[in-house]
Amino acid sequence: MDYEEFFREDFDRIEQYKPGEQPTEEGWVKLNTNENPYPPPQVILDEIKMSVNDKLRLYPDPTAKYLRQMISSVLLVDKNTLTNPRSVFIDNGSDGILENIMKAIVDPGDQVDYFYPSYGMYRVLSMCYRAKRNEVKLTEDFSIPDEAYSLKGKLMFVNSPNNPNGKAFSKNTISKLCSSYPGIVAVDEAYGDFCEISALPLLKEFKNLIVVRTFSKSFSLASLRMGYAVADPEIIKALNKVRLPYNVNYLTQIAAVSCIKHRDLIKKQNEKIISERTRLTEAISQYNGVSVEPSDANFIFIKFSEKSVCLKFNWDLREKDMLVRHFSSPGLYQFLRVSVGTPEDNSKFLEVFDEIAQKYL
Ligand SMILES: Cc1ncc(COP(=O)(O)O)c(C=O)c1O
Repeated sequence: MDYEEFFREDFDRIEQYKPGEQPTEEGWVKLNTNENPYPPPQVILDEIKMSVNDKLRLYPDPTAKYLRQMISSVLLVDKNTLTNPRSVFIDNGSDGILENIMKAIVDPGDQVDYFYPSYGMYRVLSMCYRAKRNEVKLTEDFSIPDEAYSLKGKLMFVNSPNNPNGKAFSKNTISKLCSSYPGIVAVDEAYGDFCEISALPLLKEFKNLIVVRTFSKSFSLASLRMGYAVADPEIIKALNKVRLPYNVNYLTQIAAVSCIKHRDLIKKQNEKIISERTRLTEAISQYNGVSVEPSDANFIFIKFSEKSVCLKFNWDLREKDMLVRHFSSPGLYQFLRVSVGTPEDNSKFLEVFDEIAQKYL
């Protein structure tokens, strides 16, 4: 049957998001999707296991009151930001949050501004919601260009630290964007726990700011899908109006609360990731013909002097069961993005990198 006539008129023009590879077989050193290399600490796994009980029969708390309280009164308490549960929205991963921001704010034809290169979902969501897309190129060193301070759209997405290069934008840059932009500025801090820079304190100053964060990266909960947004209660009310009724499931709520309770254990794991990021950066920077972008995230972005060499590295790493991420997109052909793994994974990566370097560098 030819379904074309049933789909929306612009259906063929919508581009699908291309996620990194998730192999089902074992044996890969997986450094391609910026997951946390450490599992949640045992005590958190135990608390999740203990919750696999009769409650699964019931719908979860639709307002996730306890979890939102824990986020506002514990997780955010030392972040110099809004700490009222009415300022916190939660959803099924930060992707869910980004979608609800679009749903609540963007009418078809409204201008949505975002940067390139950056996280691909801003583009996909803008297409799905029929926005007028304005993709603004970052400068050569992945900074915000001056033209961004005179944009006149309805919604702007800023990713800080920015995926794929890893650098966070300064508080001053975000502050300038919030004060010059007439619409809402959504700062996606998916990797925000791997650095000290955050827009969270700016929420006290700017009513048009939403800060979006996730438990997928720093809290090792990518599979359970838990994201949160912090903003003025009026914005949060609007997001709640358009979201699905039971958007965060019961086990995810339990797991997220447990992560917050045991955040000191999580912090230790993330400290290891940060120090391994430095080790990887220093080791790779030794080679001629490659450089590493400064990173505030749990991944590094390696630049090769030639695209062909980059592709050879990507291919040979794969041959040695190591998955990293290459983007076949303008301006990115010469780069490989490598998630920081455990010290063992990183040592293996450096060993294999060295072998390949002997051939091509
Ligand atoms: C910048 C950025 N934002 C959001 C997401 C989505 O994360 P989540 O798992 O919370 O939906 C990702 C995932 O890789 C990301 O890189």
